[in-house]
Amino acid sequence: EKGGYPNFMAKEINEQPHAVADTLLGRTDETGRLVLDELRISEDDLRAVDKIVIIACGTAAYAGMVAKYAIEHWCRIPCEVELAHEFRYRDPVVNERTLVVAISQSGETMDTLMAVKHARELGAKVVAVCNTHGSTIPRESDAVLYTHAGPEIAVASTKAFLAQITACYILGLYLAQLRGGTYADEAQAVMKDLHEVPAKIQQVLDGLDRVREIARFMADTRSVLFLGRHVGYPVALEGALKLKELAYIHAEGFAAGELKHGPIALIEPGQPVFVIVPSPSSEHGLHGKVVSNIQEIRARGARTLVIAEDGDEDVVPFADVVIRVPQTPALLAPLVTTVPLQVFACELATAKGLDVDQPRNLAKSVTVE
Ligand code: M6R
Repeated sequence: EKGGYPNFMAKEINEQPHAVADTLLGRTDETGRLVLDELRISEDDLRAVDKIVIIACGTAAYAGMVAKYAIEHWCRIPCEVELAHEFRYRDPVVNERTLVVAISQSGETMDTLMAVKHARELGAKVVAVCNTHGSTIPRESDAVLYTHAGPEIAVASTKAFLAQITACYILGLYLAQLRGGTYADEAQAVMKDLHEVPAKIQQVLDGLDRVREIARFMADTRSVLFLGRHVGYPVALEGALKLKELAYIHAEGFAAGELKHGPIALIEPGQPVFVIVPSPSSEHGLHGKVVSNIQEIRARGARTLVIAEDGDEDVVPFADVVIRVPQTPALLAPLVTTVPLQVFACELATAKGLDVDQPRNLAKSVTVE
């Protein structure tokens, strides 16, 4: 069942090129235009949307945070991301013109389900982004966009995360195409870039021996920090969550820009810090700022584990370890930069002799509030 892998998580990490490719499959016509027949919400209603609210929990919420950067950029519709259990218990501003996107691998997460029901009571249209056919959340939603990651068995979510980002991007591009505007013409070009991602993920997977070695070496580590910016910020949060869940190590993710507002006080000699570096060619121009952050923490003794694009030599003087990923457009980078962090957590937990597929205290789907 595990296809020769030591555990389901390792198998599922390795299935990620397929998870993304399969999620992209059949979503465009022969001319390259996005066609989402399954999105049973009228085009008029979708054109009238003036706000998007993404609700989810855990890793799915981090996929939502990534998607927010892309959706606002492409659609120019304000997009919020909220933990489902928080959304439900405050007084959110949601109405008929709000599109709620509920992301859930299992489709059974009670917190997310309750938030879906609440949103619909308030008049919002709800699209579920879900990996499980016939599950409850899609049934309770107006429409569903399935991720085609295949069954995810390990408690820690990996391939579903990449598939969720992919599906949310498809939704964002579809809305951009439907509504016209500056980025409508870009939808096809971005889809083309997305189709190149599975091969890039494979390339990352094929080059992770050093990450495995480092993870084994770090089995006694007490705390690991993760820094990222822009879409790298939710990737940092996801890297930290994987390490907490699997290896029971204290881990925190930060937005790199927040460093000087507090977290830099945590840096002491030997503190391991992963840094997710944006591409030097990103339009947002944040590369230099993140490189400066690496320099700052290194000067205070941090052990810097740097995830950087091929050819980015600026990071080299300040990195104890450079983990390379292929050149990828800025918004698509999480689909490659997350992978080394998953492998790191999986390998470190294995080195500690822990049950990677079934960490203590956790359930695959949380069906209670
Ligand atoms: O099935 P869902 O996507 O709704 O699950 C949401 C979270 O419970 C889930 O992502 C959880 O955080 C995982 N253990 C993360 O690895």
